[in-house]
Amino acid sequence: MKPVNVGIVGLGTVGSGTFNVLNRNREDISRRAGREILVTHIGARRDNPAVNTAGVKVSRDIFAVVNDPEVDIVVELIGGTTIARDLVMKAIENGKHVVTANKALIAQYGNEVFAAAQKKGVNVAFEAAVAGGIPIIKAIREGLAANRIEWVAGIINGTGNFILTEMRDKGRDFNDVLKEAQALGYAEADPTFDVEGIDAAHKLTILASIAFGIPLQFSKAYTEGITKITREDVAYAEELGYRVKHLGVARQTPNGIELRVHPTLIPESRLIANVHGVMNAVMVMSDAVGGTLYYGRGAGSEPTASAVVADVLDVARVLTTDPTNRVPHLAFQPGRLSDKPILPIEEIETAYYLRMDVKDRPGVLAKIATVLSEGDINIESIIQKDQADDNAPVPLIMLTRKVQEKKMNAAIDKIRKLDVLVNDVTRIRLEMLDK
Ligand code: HSE
Repeated sequence: MKPVNVGIVGLGTVGSGTFNVLNRNREDISRRAGREILVTHIGARRDNPAVNTAGVKVSRDIFAVVNDPEVDIVVELIGGTTIARDLVMKAIENGKHVVTANKALIAQYGNEVFAAAQKKGVNVAFEAAVAGGIPIIKAIREGLAANRIEWVAGIINGTGNFILTEMRDKGRDFNDVLKEAQALGYAEADPTFDVEGIDAAHKLTILASIAFGIPLQFSKAYTEGITKITREDVAYAEELGYRVKHLGVARQTPNGIELRVHPTLIPESRLIANVHGVMNAVMVMSDAVGGTLYYGRGAGSEPTASAVVADVLDVARVLTTDPTNRVPHLAFQPGRLSDKPILPIEEIETAYYLRMDVKDRPGVLAKIATVLSEGDINIESIIQKDQADDNAPVPLIMLTRKVQEKKMNAAIDKIRKLDVLVNDVTRIRLEMLDK
């Protein structure tokens, strides 16, 4: 059978990994696909010394790849949502199948990209867009297709997890760890995407769509980063038996869908609480199988290439099949997506870790407890840290039972007015991840 011709656009960290994996494992890949897969055209603004492109056409004009009549599959690895969007839309218009690792593009423009692809009868595959090398899209879209999915919770930004882990284990400085993640090729071009939770929100948006059969709605995701987490909070959480992780949570509730990324306390006994460094993990709770956990490298050259190449292989396999019978982009048939609303963060329900540095005076704890009880907030545990200096503020750490976020906001506002706080209240959401 005729080989499948692949054009790679972008020869950076993931592009070079993709080229090298396709070449190194060429024999096994062709045995799996049933035909040869060849990189015939590369579009890159500059060479990459990690790649030997001898014998492959290289164009500085990246659009030459999508306009090349010999190319069957365009692999978009330039990232971003401007040129990448034009390039992907042009590839589709030209009848090419597309493989991309671009989570921002899919989360923000996926609805239009998939509609165009559907119309043209081409495939757009994006496994590498979520959790790098972990085949989580395939697991949810195909492996769990029998289930009603209740929730998905994931550590889906390697840079953020690496920073939190190094800060906890080695007491390292935030910026120092971030620089290392950048040097290792984990961090986004704009690292605020990592530390402010935007990258994780892109990935969670995609996961929620394929889990629940809803259109992609990145603008409605609640996004909070890790920049305000202190070493003290991490230590207090540990004392209470919890780890602080930057978690993306998407959950179906009777009223709508929770879609949120924020630092979260999770019980240290959960496997996912023990995912360290740059590793990613996604836990999926489904009605038939129960909880399943997917763990692996979520970033880096060859781990991400692993997912890109698997998609290339998938596309190569379906090239000869009926386009209307392919696995739908968002797992559910395009005309059967649900219009369930995404809930505003005020409507979600979760437990909380609260830290208040308070004045050391009689009655302070009673006043705070009264506000919480009037707000229908049940306290699960409390630690009061004794201070050597009698005049020093006393850290008061509490865990609460589940309560609606707006009730917690109202209680925190009341506590702020009590004149007992030395600093503002630190609030970290807590998930048991048990059912
Ligand atoms: N910046 C991302 C991360 C890369 O750190 O996880 C993979 O999407």
